[in-house]
This record gives sequence, structure tokens and C-alpha cells, in this order.
Amino acid sequence: MSPEPPPPLLSVRDLRVHFPTEDGLVKAVDGLSFDLARGRTLGVVGESGSGKSVATQAVLGLHSPARTRVGGEVRFEGEELIGAPERRLARLRGNRIAVVFQDPLTALSPYHTVGRQIAEPYRRHRGASRREARERAVEMLARVGIPRPRSRHDDYPHQFSGGMRQRVMIAMALVCAPDLLIADEPTTALDVTVQAQILDLLMELREESGSAIVLITHDLGVVSGFADEVLVMYAGRAAEHGTAREVLGRPRHPYTWGLLTSMPRLSAEAGRDLVPIPGAPPSLIHPPPGCAFRPRCAYPKEVSGPLECARDRPEAPPGHGPACHLEPARAEALFAERVLPRLTGRP
Ligand SMILES: Nc1ncnc2c1ncn2[C@@H]1O[C@H](COP(=O)(O)OP(=O)(O)OP(=O)(O)O)[C@@H](O)[C@H]1O
Ligand SMILES: [Mg+2]
Repeated sequence: MSPEPPPPLLSVRDLRVHFPTEDGLVKAVDGLSFDLARGRTLGVVGESGSGKSVATQAVLGLHSPARTRVGGEVRFEGEELIGAPERRLARLRGNRIAVVFQDPLTALSPYHTVGRQIAEPYRRHRGASRREARERAVEMLARVGIPRPRSRHDDYPHQFSGGMRQRVMIAMALVCAPDLLIADEPTTALDVTVQAQILDLLMELREESGSAIVLITHDLGVVSGFADEVLVMYAGRAAEHGTAREVLGRPRHPYTWGLLTSMPRLSAEAGRDLVPIPGAPPSLIHPPPGCAFRPRCAYPKEVSGPLECARDRPEAPPGHGPACHLEPARAEALFAERVLPRLTGRP
């Protein structure tokens, strides 16, 4: 008998993150599953409010247990993290699993120098001396492109511009060479040159330490340039999941089509009109029955067979595929006829 294959670096199953509020239970993430192997980059896309940040924060156990109901499984190298003792999570965070948050001001302390904040996880997790950690912090500042890193080391966050602070956050996340890096819109605040530089740096880290990256971004150009796999989220669930080639090249979910025609890309073709997806994301307290995207979808009439979009909630197949009742062949034909011409600008 062949030995069992090693578990994926990260395995998420039926993840649910619900927030009790005065208005009702907000189901911000409601049944999300995916795997991520070492050395791979997963791009996570979806409109604002689709649950990208909430889902990835749950991987790190960052939600307050008093105010959040978290369910399902999050396994890191086979080890269950949901419900794991805070002490155990604290040993993983900033060390083997690191995050770059969407908003650097909430994550950086205004009271400590940036050098100290970068060095701190290195001292705590690696047992480095004060001097070693200082050298490492200077090295990290240099690697993320901060000029004069030795003197800037002793500055405070407010002495840096927004883009610089974002780079400091990235230095802090990378200081222990994590196995899993969660980067939540890591480059949104940066100009295009710095953006490319930072993304290259993330990919360099991935090569060096064989780590995996979850890259949350609104920018499909970034996804197509850097991600191996793409997870499209809608209303707290996976609308479509596959390799970047499948999801960007031959998408099968009408929501993915909408994103492709509504989002700018790095290589935005001149003159291509961006077409917003009509309507708004559904209530997460009272989601519509059946498919959550149905009220905005132009294709329910194209669905044949016994399943009804307004009644039966489509499940994404295990592994890769769309959570949609359209027949695969019909979806491919519709994409080719109705969506592709809009993307290429050719009739
Ligand atoms: N503590 C909370 N209590 C109630 N609702 C919350 C809480 N935190 C997040 N939400 C809701 O959960 C949903 C998902 O939020 P999340 O921040 O994950 O979206 P996102 O996909 O990251 O969006 P963006 O692209 O704007 O960053 C949103 O509707 C948000 O309002
Ligand atoms: Mg977010």
C-alpha cells in the first residue's frame, strides 16, 4: 500500500463565520471550502462585502469568540485550528502563518518604532538577540524597498507615508519567512511601480521558502499575473474555484463573467467599457433562497434539468468548478457568445 499523501498546507472545509447583531445573524461566510498546497498562490476575488477578509481572518483565529460563531474546519498541515487554544495560535501567528492587513494603521502600533515592530516577532518566535533582530529588521526594510533603512528603522509609523506603512507591514509579515502568508489587498494603497515590486517580493519569498500565499485583491490583473488558483467569492461562499487559467480563461459562473467585465485589469485594453454587475449583493442576514446570485443573474432561463436557481442552492463541486446549475457545455457556449466579445472588444 502506498503511504498516505501529506495533507495540504491549508485545508478549509465548510467554514462558517456568523456575527450575531441586533438586526439578526450576519452570515458573512457560510460554507466555504478550499485547499492550498505549498508553493502555490491562491487569488481571492469578489465584490466588497463578499467575505474575503472575514474568511481569511478566521484562518488565523482572529475573530472574538464572544462576538462571532465560527464553524467548520481549518487545518494547517493537518492540525485543526478552529477551537485550538489561543496559546497555540499565538505560536503560529506572525511565525508560520502571517498576515498583511488591508489597513496598516490598525495593525501598526503608533507607540513603537517600525524597526521594533518588525523585530518583535523575530525575537519572540526565533529567540533572536536584540542585535540580531535589529539587523534582521533593517534587512527587511531594505528588502521591501524603504530607502535609508538603517536610519528609518527608528522612525514611528506616522512618519511614513501610507504606501511606506504598507511596506512596513509586509516586512513585519515576512520577517519569520512564514509558510503561509495571507495578504489582504497588500498593494491597493501603492502606486503601480511599487505594487509590482512588492508582489515580486512576495513571489520571491514563496520561491525561497516554499510557502503558500493567499492573495486577496480587487485587481484581476494582479490575479492573472501572480495567482496559480483563483477563488471567486459571492455572499460568503465560493461562486467558482479553479486554476487561474480555468477561472480567468474559461469561467463558468455568471458572477465570474460579471467580475471580468466590470473590473479593470492591469493591461486594460484601451476603450473597453467596464460593465458593472446590475443590482447589489444580497442581505447576509436574509439571503435569497436558492442561488444567492440569482436576483442579479441574466441566465436562470438557460438552466435545464430539475434544479431551480430560485429554490436549490448550487454547491461548488469538491476541488474545482462553479457553484451554478448551468450545464458545463451551456456555460462555455454562453461565455463564448455573450461575454468573450465584451472582453476582447470584438463582436
Ligand atoms: N463584526 C462584524 N459584525 C457584523 N458584520 C460584519 C462584521 N465583520 C464583517 N461583517 C460583515 O461581513 C461581510 C463580509 O465582510 P468582509 O470584510 O469579509 O468583506 P470583504 O470581501 O473583505 O470586502 P472588501 O473587499 O470591502 O474588503 C460584510 O457584509 C461585513 O459588513
Ligand atoms: Mg476585505
